[in-house]
Amino acid sequence: METTMAQENQAPSSGLLPSVGSFYHVQWADEAWHVAEIIQQRVEPETQENQVYVHYKEFNRRMDEWIPVSRVDVKKGIVEETPKEIDTMLELNGRERKVTRNLKRKHDEINHIQKSFEEMDPTTAALEKEHEALTKVKYVNKVQIGKYEIDTWYFSPYPEEYGKQPKLWICEYCLKYMKFEKSYKKHLVECTVRQPVGKEIYRKGTISVFEVNGSDHKIYCQNLCLLAKLFLDHKTLYFDVDPFWFYVLTEVDRVGCHIVGYFSKEKESPESNNVACILTLPPYQRKGYGKFLIAFSYELSKLEQSVGSPEKPLSDLGKLSYRSYWSWVLLDILKDAHGALSIKDLSSLTSFTQEDIIGTLQSLNMVKYWKGQHIVCVTPKLVEEHMKSAQYRKPLLTVDSEYVRWSPPVKTPKTTKKH
Ligand code: ACO
Ligand code: ZN
Repeated sequence: METTMAQENQAPSSGLLPSVGSFYHVQWADEAWHVAEIIQQRVEPETQENQVYVHYKEFNRRMDEWIPVSRVDVKKGIVEETPKEIDTMLELNGRERKVTRNLKRKHDEINHIQKSFEEMDPTTAALEKEHEALTKVKYVNKVQIGKYEIDTWYFSPYPEEYGKQPKLWICEYCLKYMKFEKSYKKHLVECTVRQPVGKEIYRKGTISVFEVNGSDHKIYCQNLCLLAKLFLDHKTLYFDVDPFWFYVLTEVDRVGCHIVGYFSKEKESPESNNVACILTLPPYQRKGYGKFLIAFSYELSKLEQSVGSPEKPLSDLGKLSYRSYWSWVLLDILKDAHGALSIKDLSSLTSFTQEDIIGTLQSLNMVKYWKGQHIVCVTPKLVEEHMKSAQYRKPLLTVDSEYVRWSPPVKTPKTTKKH
């Protein structure tokens, strides 16, 4: 068995220890064996149990976890990585290479598989490697927020002693985070707010949205970003919240406005992004809140009379939600359209960018490239077919534009300082 430096700090153990950086068969929660990389080892301070932090090769990084060494098949030993079929094919010849790369890209896109470093351009690969090294291990496993105890997905840069805690306690109203249940209980008695800071700009039924200015409410917004990072793999904004607006979605009951999710938006976006980050907290996911937030972001763009698109890269779940939302909106327009609609028309009606419209219509097989231009190309039969398919799923929750009390913030002209 190979040994590594990292093992030297380990407490003596009766059994074999897996080596960091290698792949083993590891038993997952489903009791089946999966190939996983050993990222780090530790002796759990309370139980004195030997544990390893693992990344399952076929799963998204949100499944990474600390597990007892007993779930690693150390006896069988290191799994030699078998060369992927695709790599063998790549060696054949140039033509084959192109075909297989394209096929693989398609396959990966459909299956929401992240690109490997080899497939990225060198700069992206370097940034990705750095990101991975910095965020490989997650210590905060759970957060208590309001009535929910939530399993976290990714690393978040909570300050030192907080970041090493297995569980954090978070006030669901002011978002203050605490290390211990005792201080949390005390805070609940002292904290008087029952809704997000900022201005309520939407309320219909039990759903309400608040607009929060990053420059006016720094601590609240930083706390929101730290919380969000626990569920977002790629996100670099935590402390510099000044340049952003935050739109916080809540469910209202007699006690208060309970945070469900949010999206952030740059005050000035050179790339016309109308969403920087978007999140539905896990207990509320798959109930339509994500698409509600997406719809809301486009309502704001419509009021600004601009077009917008979410910041890239999108996460796997972000892609699913946006694709589903764009498809539904466009099909809903096309089903009632009389006469020809151009991509530009669709863009003015929806505030989607032309690029996002073309991408969506391509996936629906409704666009042709003719004389250097993309042309919407639909037949009633094609629309009807899609409306019966999974791509046409009416959002569970919709934004009623009549209830949006918002107008675009007045932009103060920048004063240029001369030195
Ligand atoms: N597995 C499969 N499909 C899913 C899953 C899942 N776990 N979660 C959502 N979906 C699908 C839904 O089925 C739905 O599509 P459908 O109506 O065609 O079936 C669609 O995604 C959206 O569902 P909603 O209920 O409206 O969205 P939800 O409230 O779950 O929020 C969101 C979606 C915001 C992406 C959420 O998954 C989340 O917060 N994820 C973690 C953070 C993240 O990845 N954010 C996006 C990053 S990209 C960016 O910020 C610009
Ligand atoms: Zn509070």
